[in-house]
Amino acid sequence: MYRLPAAAGKAETEIMKGIILAAGRGTRLYPITTSICKPLLPVYDKPLVYYPISLMETAGIRDTLIITPPGYKDAFVKLLGDGSRFGMHIEYRTQKVQKGIADALLVGQDFVGKDSVCLILGDNILFGPALRRKLRKAKSHAKEGAGIFGYYVIDPRPFGVVDFDDDGRAVAIEEKPRRPRSHYVVPGVYFYSNDVIDIARDVKPSPRGEMEITTVNNIYLEQNRLHVTKLGNEYTWFDAGNADSLFEAAGAVRAAQRSGRMVGCPEEIAFYNQWITREQLEKCADRMKKTNYGKYLDAIVDEF
Ligand code: G1P
Repeated sequence: MYRLPAAAGKAETEIMKGIILAAGRGTRLYPITTSICKPLLPVYDKPLVYYPISLMETAGIRDTLIITPPGYKDAFVKLLGDGSRFGMHIEYRTQKVQKGIADALLVGQDFVGKDSVCLILGDNILFGPALRRKLRKAKSHAKEGAGIFGYYVIDPRPFGVVDFDDDGRAVAIEEKPRRPRSHYVVPGVYFYSNDVIDIARDVKPSPRGEMEITTVNNIYLEQNRLHVTKLGNEYTWFDAGNADSLFEAAGAVRAAQRSGRMVGCPEEIAFYNQWITREQLEKCADRMKKTNYGKYLDAIVDEF
């Protein structure tokens, strides 16, 4: 029997906006991304961008801005519309020049207004048990500061790497260090207080010419306002930026879904959050009857 949580759908008292940075052209995926952009590529049975959208929903954030590469807005609108199918409100902006992740906060500053913000990278996939609780905890830190995660990987060099002291407190974050001081990398899921916009405005480009999100995180750290939550190996995280990680991610999603529960299904989470009705879910299922995805939604409708 499909059970809705007692607290699901309750109005959130804190307003937080969401930004999904899906503007990457995917140059590390050429020739695949010559005529299609990375967030629209499939990861097993759904487009890559469904995973960050699902994370946004799991964090309880309905108002979301998707930053797209030039020339792709229509394709995103065709896929996601105004978000109402997921009980969300989705807007779009184009990032004309890729200046780095911190620049997304400036592209989205009008949209964010006076609220706090959750920024999720369009190629990040994260799933695991009780993720809802973890996300909401990190989100709660954005009242005054920032909430981010640390995730153990064998080779942390291509990422932002966070080092902890003996008491488990974050002491430094380095972007793509040659000699990493820890194995904990920072996944592309960040919760920030509203003044992150002011912080981002002052970020200078790094040697690779990008406004690094690591610079933003380090400013919160210096101000004693950064909270880093470690995610253990019961969680699965991918930055699906190249052919290997995209392939691996698809395999991991497929394996996880053998349990019978889907990973990254925005319609399901919307229903769970009580953002859409059973009738709306049924409509979504009807449109996709021929696929396992549609059948899965149909089974939820039937069970409920
Ligand atoms: C970016 C960030 C890095 C973070 C990673 C997560 O790396 O700069 O700190 O760990 O995303 O996916 P990039 O995708 O720019 O190489």
